[in-house]
Amino acid sequence: MLKSETLAALFPQDANIPTEFKAPRIEQREYLIDGEIRQWQGPMQEISSPVRIRNGNAPEQVKLGSVPSMSEQAATEALNAAAAAYDNGRGKWPTMSVGERIRHVQNFVERMLGCRDRVVNLLMWEICKNLADAQKEFDRTIDYIRDTVEALKELDRTSSRFTIQQKIIGQIRRAPLGVVLCMGPFNYPLNETFTTLIPALIMGNTVVFKPPKLGVLLFQPLLEAFRDSFPKGVINTVYGSGQTVITPMMASGKVDVLAFIGTSRVSDVIRKSHPKPHRLRCVLGLDAKNPCIILPDADIDLAVKECLLGSLSFNGQRCTALKMIFVHSSIADAFLAKFSAEVEKLQINLPWEKGAQITPLAEPGKAERLTDLIKDAQANGARIVNPSGGVFSDSLFFPAVVYPVNDKMKLYREEQFGPVIPIAAYNRIEEAISYVVESDYGQQVSIFGKDAKQMASLIDPLVNQVCRVNINSQCQRGPDTFPFTGRKDSAEGTLSVSDALRVFSIRTLVAAKDSDDNKQLITKILKDDLSSFLTTDFLF
Ligand code: G3H
Repeated sequence: MLKSETLAALFPQDANIPTEFKAPRIEQREYLIDGEIRQWQGPMQEISSPVRIRNGNAPEQVKLGSVPSMSEQAATEALNAAAAAYDNGRGKWPTMSVGERIRHVQNFVERMLGCRDRVVNLLMWEICKNLADAQKEFDRTIDYIRDTVEALKELDRTSSRFTIQQKIIGQIRRAPLGVVLCMGPFNYPLNETFTTLIPALIMGNTVVFKPPKLGVLLFQPLLEAFRDSFPKGVINTVYGSGQTVITPMMASGKVDVLAFIGTSRVSDVIRKSHPKPHRLRCVLGLDAKNPCIILPDADIDLAVKECLLGSLSFNGQRCTALKMIFVHSSIADAFLAKFSAEVEKLQINLPWEKGAQITPLAEPGKAERLTDLIKDAQANGARIVNPSGGVFSDSLFFPAVVYPVNDKMKLYREEQFGPVIPIAAYNRIEEAISYVVESDYGQQVSIFGKDAKQMASLIDPLVNQVCRVNINSQCQRGPDTFPFTGRKDSAEGTLSVSDALRVFSIRTLVAAKDSDDNKQLITKILKDDLSSFLTTDFLF
């Protein structure tokens, strides 16, 4: 059984950190507006790591640097630059051919690749993603951008032809929507920001983006690549408090699309500041509390393995994490014994240490909040099953398996977004189904079982409650070509490599009656290559 002192002793001394993983120190005054990297002269916001360092007696939080705490005026400049670059659809970027836009994005990817080690190190220090997962996040993002380019080529190829219906010639394509405000979450600061930012850009929109509060410095190495790869004003960055920089941008009415991954509470506040809500399109990835239902005939070892990954990858700080487990009472004891034994074996350590599975929690005060959730469950009759569960020191918190959880406890409904795994035993399958039905969320569910008839009888109602039913496996977003969305408070709009291209664009067409004059006119436009929209060019 772990002790709090053992966890405290895991925090390193400066001298013990391997040279390649030393803490970065970045005083970032730079921000990108209108194609220029400017130097911020105003107040700064300090950025600290969840990692503590033991140079003296008490462990101290590592300071990583600072970023601009921008003013309303600076944010307005960023927005105006994006609006000017879009120029009501007449700007260089929105009218550029798809092929040319793709070349800009490809240049960016080449430059981005050169920043891999710095970004990975920052992911470890800023949000404590372990080395393997930080590298995966970076590489997955590169793959996502490359897949996006291929998907756009495919989309463009199918749009490169005319159709004639009822004597009307038409060419139908997808066109940009305008100015997009992109905000990603702290748990996938790079990947999830880019899964909206890149499709938004490549479809011809212009962008203002605000990095998340945690996971902000890791964009600094990319600023020059952004500046050099895109025309001025196409991409602009803002930093600082949401109230100061986001609210006035939204209130200006100049934001056409809000792309936000975070909590439904914050998204409601942001969208409400827009004066013309019906004009604002929203692409939102929000809260989730994905349940797992383990049937009496389930393969217990497989369920244990998948639940471990599903509930505790990146310390459970994933929107797709399994956040409530229902196990049939006939196998509850066996499942609990095996599951808690596996949890107890997990390695808690610093992100760069080999084999680290549980790392410091990213959000300040999180260990205390999780402890409160556990105490509330204990007060209502639950216990911590694994001996080290809930032991913590500062940001290092050992995962807790909590059982039996019921509807009187906060853990039953609240999204814990951390390493606490609530488990309930059920007798009738309706108990688990009504949990899904009554939930405010509707992202995904996992079901474990072997009987085809019973599994099918669960799949059919559940697909109408959530947007992905995972059979004998954990919940997850990938592969990124699969649609990723949710019902109820979990999402708005669908993201996948190809769906994202659609949500950041609108179908628009050029149509003409098929008179000889019109045919001649269109032929001339095509032959002399006079339009980026009206063209039959084939993108290889
Ligand atoms: O936090 C939510 C992410 O989209 C989850 O992605 O399932 O690949 O970890 P993932």
